[in-house]
Amino acid sequence: MMKLKHSSTLTTCYVIGLMISLLVIAAECSNTQYPAINCRKHTALLTDFGAVGDGKTSNTKAFQSAITNLSQYASDGGAQLVVPPGKWLTGSFNLTSHFTLFLQKDALILASQDESEWPPLAVLPSYGRGRDAPAGRFSSLIFGTNLTDVVITGANGTIDGQGSYWWAKFKQNQLNLTRPYLIEIMHSDQIQISNLTLLNSPSWFVHPIYSSNIVIQGLTIIAPVDSPNTDGINPDSSTNTRIEDCYIVSGDDCVAVKSGWDQYGIKYGKPTEHVIIRRLRCISPDSAMIALGSEMSGGIRDVRAEDITAINTQSAVRIKTAVGRGGYVKDIFVKGAKLQSMKYVFWMTGGYGSHPDPGFDPKALPEISGINYGHLSAENVTYSARLDGISGDPFTGICISDVDIKLSEEKKQLQWNCTDVSGFTKNVTPQPCDLLQLKTNISHCPYPTDKLPIDNIQFNTCSL
Ligand SMILES: *[C@@H]1O[C@H](CO)[C@@H](O)[C@H](O)[C@H]1NC(C)=O
Ligand SMILES: *[C@@H]1O[C@H](CO)[C@@H](O)[C@H](O)[C@H]1NC(C)=O
Ligand SMILES: *[C@@H]1O[C@H](CO)[C@@H](O)[C@H](O)[C@H]1NC(C)=O
Ligand SMILES: *[C@@H]1O[C@H](CO)[C@@H](O)[C@H](O)[C@H]1NC(C)=O
Ligand SMILES: *[C@@H]1O[C@H](CO)[C@@H](O)[C@H](O)[C@H]1NC(C)=O
Ligand SMILES: *[C@@H]1O[C@H](CO)[C@@H](O)[C@H](O)[C@H]1NC(C)=O
Ligand SMILES: *[C@@H]1O[C@H](CO)[C@@H](O)[C@H](O)[C@H]1NC(C)=O
Ligand SMILES: *[C@@H]1O[C@H](CO)[C@@H](O)[C@H](O)[C@H]1NC(C)=O
Ligand SMILES: *[C@@H]1O[C@H](CO)[C@@H](O)[C@H](O)[C@H]1NC(C)=O
Repeated sequence: MMKLKHSSTLTTCYVIGLMISLLVIAAECSNTQYPAINCRKHTALLTDFGAVGDGKTSNTKAFQSAITNLSQYASDGGAQLVVPPGKWLTGSFNLTSHFTLFLQKDALILASQDESEWPPLAVLPSYGRGRDAPAGRFSSLIFGTNLTDVVITGANGTIDGQGSYWWAKFKQNQLNLTRPYLIEIMHSDQIQISNLTLLNSPSWFVHPIYSSNIVIQGLTIIAPVDSPNTDGINPDSSTNTRIEDCYIVSGDDCVAVKSGWDQYGIKYGKPTEHVIIRRLRCISPDSAMIALGSEMSGGIRDVRAEDITAINTQSAVRIKTAVGRGGYVKDIFVKGAKLQSMKYVFWMTGGYGSHPDPGFDPKALPEISGINYGHLSAENVTYSARLDGISGDPFTGICISDVDIKLSEEKKQLQWNCTDVSGFTKNVTPQPCDLLQLKTNISHCPYPTDKLPIDNIQFNTCSL
């Protein structure tokens, strides 16, 4: 059953009648092609491993035995596992290296709501405890650690986390372990996650951590806007991440860049660096389009965002930190944002309360500097900016240029509320606060002109 490359099981070839032209037949018969960082020599179908796509039978063993079986090809051209149309109920399973998980168009992976299908994992060392409960955490639906070259993609197939079970337990404070994420990749290099619809994660959706060279493209991510902690994409203590063409509707931040929590993150000391976000579209009424923090104790540096859009979202780019976090957020660049119906356009919070435990170091002050926002337009805004630095630890080098904010009928009197910040503004309406009136000879905020290495990743055209 390996090397099914041209087998009829994977080829859609319907002859619908004599009236169909040769052209249409040719198109319908062609193998599915898809872009990926690497193509695979071996192919298998999930159903080869006894999977049943009825939405009721558990397929955890089928997924795991398929992937274990295909792991033998890691050093022989790699393997792809095809999830065909159907409803594939499963608990958590682990990925392998030089491997592609491909969801065909009407493939739906349904996450089990049976806790025994979610084995426990140790807490993340850079967090020191789980976010929902201090003990361990449930492993993510799709989990990978210590891997190289992993692709999770498809023809816009769907992964539904069926999170309502977990949201209810979270709200009733009944969790002994921290909720699972939908996809988590740890200690890994060369990761692609693309062309999928992700629904209703129990908590965060996509979580690359302690990893590098990550491409995330063409994801549609949807959760109810009142679901708890359903962040879209969270690059965490990772290097070189490219996020493009994603549409996210969620109950928490659409993208949240992180790097560990207080003393645990400081000790682990792994920053998130070199992130590029392009053409993100976000709806998040109670959270940010892009958050930096609040867990940023390993440092966050060189985040670039271009052509981003938010509608009915609480704030655009929000920096969240606190005394005790340590670390830094610096060299942040935004160029081109269109915002509609926002509470705050600019929001920085130096007093974000949450701590893992009382053991944090009150002398561990975060460094926030070099924050550059250019070319933003916003409509229907309540507050232009709320910038709360830390007393004795001001946020510096804030640059805001070419910004046109149109206020809502509910606009507040104090449009720019600034404390413990300093910087420069140019061509910004309404009139910014005095703390952002440093004299400078430049006419707009900088944006890097160099290319990030992750932009050099080439895609191959692969086929099933
Ligand atoms: C995946 O999405 C990209 C755009 O992000 C598109 O160019 C490509 O054709 C899509 N591939 C498939 C198999 O749908
Ligand atoms: C797993 O791989 C072996 C080859 O090593 C193959 O013979 C076997 O049929 C595979 N298992 C399944 C369930 O397909
Ligand atoms: C999945 O990976 C985790 C972490 O390495 C491990 O604890 C677990 O046993 C693995 N599960 C399977 C089914 O191999
Ligand atoms: C995974 O990688 C991390 C970091 O390099 C290492 O500490 C850990 O021991 C590795 N785990 C396994 C199971 O190889
Ligand atoms: C993928 O599916 C979602 C949900 O059906 C849809 O909203 C989105 O437009 C689709 N994306 C593409 C590229 O077809
Ligand atoms: C989880 O904690 C509750 C108390 O909050 C306890 O009754 C239950 O037995 C625990 N479940 C597990 C699986 O440990
Ligand atoms: C303006 O924003 C408010 C919420 O802040 C919303 O209720 C209202 O519909 C928006 N109006 C327009 C014209 O978008
Ligand atoms: C301005 O921000 C400070 C916190 O820095 C807050 O205490 C105050 O209430 C805000 N003022 C208004 C009018 O929103
Ligand atoms: C701005 O001033 C710096 C020194 O403070 C100088 O190096 C730079 O050339 C000046 N730029 C312009 C556009 O005048």
